[in-house]
Amino acid sequence: MAQLRGRDRARYVARMFTRISRRYDLMNTVMTAGRHYAWRHRACRLAVGSLSGPALDVAAGTCDFAFDLARIPAVTRVAALDFAPAMLRVAARKARRQGLSHAVDLVAGDAHTLPFADDTFICATVGFGVRNFIDQTLAIRELARVVRPGGRVAVLEIVRTDEEGAWGRAFPRLFGSVAPALGAVFAGEREAYTYLPESVDGFASALQLASLMEDAGLRIIANRRVWMRSVALLVAQKPEN
Ligand SMILES: C[S@@+](CC[C@H](N)C(=O)[O-])C[C@H]1O[C@@H](n2cnc3c(N)ncnc32)[C@H](O)[C@@H]1O
Repeated sequence: MAQLRGRDRARYVARMFTRISRRYDLMNTVMTAGRHYAWRHRACRLAVGSLSGPALDVAAGTCDFAFDLARIPAVTRVAALDFAPAMLRVAARKARRQGLSHAVDLVAGDAHTLPFADDTFICATVGFGVRNFIDQTLAIRELARVVRPGGRVAVLEIVRTDEEGAWGRAFPRLFGSVAPALGAVFAGEREAYTYLPESVDGFASALQLASLMEDAGLRIIANRRVWMRSVALLVAQKPEN
């Protein structure tokens, strides 16, 4: 996987999420001891703040982020976009079970070319998606484009920690051995959960991710770290006109 670039990498990622779609939620719970739900709740609160109107979740997958947004009374409607239809099919079943089908529009599409007009949403969220994008600069610019002035972009992502002391250096080695083993046992998918730590190795630190967001014209308003500092929660605001 490490050698794949551009469209080949995007195809590989889409096929991988198609394969693991039915085990994806279980694996998140196993790998984070169930903490991933709380991280998205927190990100949603920070993303919406005191705004009201429609919200967007990109790389929505099985839509836990989108459903959290939809439960916030100030959020009038949620668009949840992903390029793996199999993930959205799991999301559609969950939406019916949770009584949220009316509030969330599932959209098959690519994060690099969002099918929405400029300044549409009060906020855009991305949970564990940016690392998978083939052009992170372009995708973050797209998020900034579709958010209203004064609106917010929230990114939750596993980041590189290798320059952050002993634990930071130890984490990638630990993650690189534990994730594939858990993937093999709980999802029958060693390959996908080998890709996961590899994709973090090739990704950004929290500081670099914040810079990408600032380069897209956004201003960082919250910068938090959870799960032994390996997961960053960054929230940024689009300047008012
Ligand atoms: C790790 S999952 C995250 C799902 C969900 N956001 C969450 O918080 O659990 C990453 C998702 O990003 C989607 N994805 C990756 N690249 C994408 C792209 N270029 N456009 C749209 N979706 C993409 C994958 O299909 C997958 O569903």
